[in-house]
Amino acid sequence: DKGPYQHYMLKEIFEQPGVVAETLEGRIYKGRLLEESFGYETRELLDQTRQIHIIACGTSYHAGLVARYWFEDIGIPCMVEVASEYRYRHTVVPEGTLFVTITQSGETADTLAALRGAKDKGYLGSLVVCNVPESSLVRESDVALMTRAGTEIGVASTKAFTTQLVALRLLVLAMAKRMGYTEDDLRGYIEELHSLPRQMEVVLGLNESIEQMARSFSDKEHALFLGRGPFYPIAMEGALKLKEISYIHAEAYPAGELKHGPLALVDEKMPVICALPNDPLLDKVLSNLQEVRARDGELFLFSDQEVKIELDKYQSLTLSDIHPSTAPIVYTVPLQLLAYHVALIKGTDVDQPRNLAKSVTVE
Ligand code: F6R
Repeated sequence: DKGPYQHYMLKEIFEQPGVVAETLEGRIYKGRLLEESFGYETRELLDQTRQIHIIACGTSYHAGLVARYWFEDIGIPCMVEVASEYRYRHTVVPEGTLFVTITQSGETADTLAALRGAKDKGYLGSLVVCNVPESSLVRESDVALMTRAGTEIGVASTKAFTTQLVALRLLVLAMAKRMGYTEDDLRGYIEELHSLPRQMEVVLGLNESIEQMARSFSDKEHALFLGRGPFYPIAMEGALKLKEISYIHAEAYPAGELKHGPLALVDEKMPVICALPNDPLLDKVLSNLQEVRARDGELFLFSDQEVKIELDKYQSLTLSDIHPSTAPIVYTVPLQLLAYHVALIKGTDVDQPRNLAKSVTVE
């Protein structure tokens, strides 16, 4: 039932504050991580974990790429790879490595095959971040950390992605404890997670402005998404959403790579979309965007109240009350809405894009 919404995708985008809160339920309380909720077996595995290999496909892979920044921030080496490549490589598995898969459906063929193939490679064990309790990946993994996004019907994954990031954040905090962070050190991060549903509500309030912005895309054939740091995988996710539902060719690039090639594509017909959070790389991104403007590229920016943008021409929307540890999750929402509205204007089948299936159970 779509309720008042025209499409499942829009309904699922708007469900995000609720399902994020659901995913946190019983796992954090009053600034504390309730580790007991992970179960004994998971905690034992985490006690021995020194590094992490994350394997997934598509949107779930992007969640893994964001988590890599988070794990590395607390001193845990982390490798992330798409399942279809990982399966056919001879991975070197250092001692104390946890094998982590991320999958909404728990049935993705390549991810499942990667898990099966990992069994005799010397991993400590396997953990799956999954949304479907009775799925194959949950059954075959040693332990599971469930997202509670509820059934996702739109083929383009939205609420599954943001709840995956929330689950991964919980995992990062559990590992942070093991890396010597005290409860006091973690309190701020846990509060940031706690306030995430409220922050997402604020972004959802920008829906109509994003719809306005989307009008500039209706005649575009290409789009470039830029980002740096954890916002690079968010740019990848924004580009994937746009291409799969609006059929506009979209590419994501780390902003610093622009002048190593893709800048040649930029002219007045090229929309460039970028999340501009207030983070240590801000000045670098701004100077990358200056290069886009110098070639007449059209800028569409999502930014933070605290950021001063000094560029000669751009469209922007300002987000407020953003916290660094959860910012990638918050900044995902406007990109989902942008893709949705562009698709709506183009008249494509939003919930059931051509050539795609919700669960990819063949290789
Ligand atoms: C994109 C999308 C796909 C899936 C991918 C993995 O919007 O939904 O890229 O993320 O097929 O699926 P799961 O997470 O079920 O393993």
